[in-house]
Amino acid sequence: PVVQPPAPVKLGFNSLPNSMTDGCVVPDGYVAHVFAPWGTPLNDNAQAWNQNGNNTSSDLLNSMGMHHDGMHFFPIEGSSTEGLLAINHEYIDQRTLHPSGATTVAGKRPVEEVRKEINAHGVAIVHVRRENGRWNIVHNSRFNRRFTSATAMKLAGPVGGTDWVKTPFSPNGTQVRGTNNNCGNGYTPWGTYITAEENWAACFVNTGVQPAHQLRVGIGAAAGRYGWETAANDPSEVLGEFARFNITETGVDATQDWRNEANGFGYLVEIDPFDPSSIATKRTAMGRFAHEGCAYSKPEAGKPLAFYSGDDSRFEYIYRFVSEAVWDPKDAERTDRLAVGAKYLDKGTLYVARFNADGSGEWLALIGSTVGAGGRTLTDEFGTLDNILINTRGAADFVGATPMDRPEWTATHPTNGDIYLTLTNNTSRNAGRGTNPPNPRLNNVNGHIIRWHDDAGTAKFKWDIFVFGSNAGADADTNRSGLTALNQLASPDGLGFDARGILWIQTDNGIDSGRNNDVARATNDQMLAVIPGAIADSTGTGPVINASNQADLRRFFVGPNEAEITGFAVTPDYTSIFLNIQHPVNWPAYGTDDATVATTGTVRARSSTVVIQRADGGPIGV
Ligand code: FEO
Ligand code: CA
Ligand code: CA
Ligand code: CA
Repeated sequence: PVVQPPAPVKLGFNSLPNSMTDGCVVPDGYVAHVFAPWGTPLNDNAQAWNQNGNNTSSDLLNSMGMHHDGMHFFPIEGSSTEGLLAINHEYIDQRTLHPSGATTVAGKRPVEEVRKEINAHGVAIVHVRRENGRWNIVHNSRFNRRFTSATAMKLAGPVGGTDWVKTPFSPNGTQVRGTNNNCGNGYTPWGTYITAEENWAACFVNTGVQPAHQLRVGIGAAAGRYGWETAANDPSEVLGEFARFNITETGVDATQDWRNEANGFGYLVEIDPFDPSSIATKRTAMGRFAHEGCAYSKPEAGKPLAFYSGDDSRFEYIYRFVSEAVWDPKDAERTDRLAVGAKYLDKGTLYVARFNADGSGEWLALIGSTVGAGGRTLTDEFGTLDNILINTRGAADFVGATPMDRPEWTATHPTNGDIYLTLTNNTSRNAGRGTNPPNPRLNNVNGHIIRWHDDAGTAKFKWDIFVFGSNAGADADTNRSGLTALNQLASPDGLGFDARGILWIQTDNGIDSGRNNDVARATNDQMLAVIPGAIADSTGTGPVINASNQADLRRFFVGPNEAEITGFAVTPDYTSIFLNIQHPVNWPAYGTDDATVATTGTVRARSSTVVIQRADGGPIGV
């Protein structure tokens, strides 16, 4: 089919200077408002947010969770003024969640604190509406919904129902409680949301001898990240509610045997935001690792669909899932959306990427017949498909995938179908580990963005590097894209295309734990915009953005001190963009919802969505 190029657009704002304040910055002519910060009630079951940290676990179950991350706007009947906003709540800040931080009494975390923390994680579905130019939550809407680290979910695909996931909660292995550390996101052509489970492994502990697949994902060896397991054996505990986070094999009777609990985590989870009674479903065929987002290829009738997901850890891999079913455009109109999800996401082939030096690449199938190390097949090494999927990273090691510099988000160009992925940074890429063609810089503190083009029907792709992060003053080997003070960037993470072909790039320098590179020492985290050409325009594996054309990479937004910028959602008419401010330490200012007001004094910080509009109501960015 002939692909129509998008109507040409040009960026119509001036690139912002560096900024380090306790407020957000937007270009002249734009406004930004704080929207749905953590603790904002979704219904009458929650008390208003309490400035002293005194909300209850029940309040959090009925309010916005903490640490907003991946996000998508689902228009209601195509509207740009009413829709459902799906928002991930990646993790928590115990200092601001509780009145004075986490407590432990005689080695145990208090049950109410743990329940509050569990309920502050997960996903929110929020019915939102714009009236008189301003966005509001539709309080008590039947669509408003929270998924937490305790919500019952289905396990579908090849791992569902196997011995790997049988627990006292689900003796037949078809369900698990909770989704955890939901970072990047995706959505589907049939109107569902996909939330990605990233750093879930650290919430579990196995103090015994860990099998290879647990070592490979980083299950805690001494304690869970928040010590949730220490709340076990409280008289109020419901069926291993807390005990399940300790997966050590104890030899106790089967009713308390939680050794398999963590095997129910590490997946892409599909949610139907339009059906409040639907059950979130973990799609195990798409692999088990530290999932970061999920973008799909441009759907073509009669062809399989491809979904791409990074695994965000140093030297981890990039994956592609290709559906067995071929795309039927009528499925985009069906209302049994999770049945459509089952059709495309439960059966198919998972691949992992190998990049070649000449700008080509191969997708290596993680199926039994694929030959890996020592001439052995994946079946020889792992057995059946459920075993391969449980230890996806181990299988990818075995077939010789290319270790990358922390693969974060993916985004698909709306017309040419090129796939972009952020490689956020890798400070452990030292002389011993060496570089490889798609990760060509040692001590890659700045990260880069790679892109490729493939066809779901073949296992080949072509690739190049779109832009190298760098500070403006770096030497030519570091600043390969010729960035300036007006667009220097490091640690690209969140990524989104709008349908006009504008690519929005967000950064996460982790500056809440120190400003560890020269960009982070010059400016807070930010969102930039650029209008890329097609991959075919590039000249091999050099940077596509370079000194001769980098003026079109412009800084659109700078966040408050210490916060990461993440999550991208846009209305169909481009007049409202939603993004998330994650882990600020002294923002937003009390007494105003103007996101650009810098805090004076000290406030209880709130991760929050920010909605950006043009003061004249026009389309954003152009
Ligand atoms: Fe949660 Fe990879 O960022
Ligand atoms: Ca994050
Ligand atoms: Ca991220
Ligand atoms: Ca990150």
